[in-house]
Amino acid sequence: MTPPTYFTVEYAINPWMDTSTPVDVELALAQWEHLRHTYRRLGHTVDLVEPVPGLPDMVYAANAGLIINGTAIVARFKHAERHGESVAYAAWMGQHGHDPVATRHVNEGQGDLLVVGSMILAGTGFRTHLHAHAEVGTLTGMPVISLELVDPRFYHLDTALTVLDDTTIAYYPSAFTDDARAQLRRLFPDAIEVASADAYVLGLNAVSDGKHVVYPAQATGFAEQLHRAGFHPIGVDLSELLKGGGSVKCCTLEVFS
Ligand code: ARG
Repeated sequence: MTPPTYFTVEYAINPWMDTSTPVDVELALAQWEHLRHTYRRLGHTVDLVEPVPGLPDMVYAANAGLIINGTAIVARFKHAERHGESVAYAAWMGQHGHDPVATRHVNEGQGDLLVVGSMILAGTGFRTHLHAHAEVGTLTGMPVISLELVDPRFYHLDTALTVLDDTTIAYYPSAFTDDARAQLRRLFPDAIEVASADAYVLGLNAVSDGKHVVYPAQATGFAEQLHRAGFHPIGVDLSELLKGGGSVKCCTLEVFS
């Protein structure tokens, strides 16, 4: 996780961002601290990445890359405003024993690359390029399922789909093409389908350890669905970070190796 020390909304690269909306950095930091504390309370180890002035989106650590199977893929961002983050995150990976490799095509890390059991679900349409999916498959040796996104509000896969455990996902069907929806129905016939009201507060931008699901607290309907499915939903308020188009999952890079 990277603290939102230099968080602002000074450019707009997704529909959630409005450069005329003021950001309260103190509040962003307090909400982010609460998220970090929640993970630690649940027994997880949280490593911190040093934030860099002038990289306001660095708080969305999920986009840093994908670390799995002894391979550390570092992000190649689509927008110039975020290019510097790749350098900072590659340095962090190197310092922590994850020798970073780059892709030739745009990949925005765990924003679009979600691990479910032994496969990777990969989003495309807005950020991560389809060609990068093939590169990720080669680099990790894992099967990669490409899923095309269609609604600009749900520009990263992690805004429209949550991995709950090795065989269970939740998703917002309207964010996907018909083909992608058919793939998801085939692979996950018992998936939780989330309603618009929950999707539109980025409710699916959640992190699960297979039991506890840390989710954006405004997504009350999703919380009920999780509870009925036997998970333990834990709501957190990240309203300031929502102004940049991200929430719980965006602020969290999960390290699998
Ligand atoms: N402002 C950032 C962007 O548009 C938000 C990234 C959110 N991260 C995520 N994993 N969905 O790139």
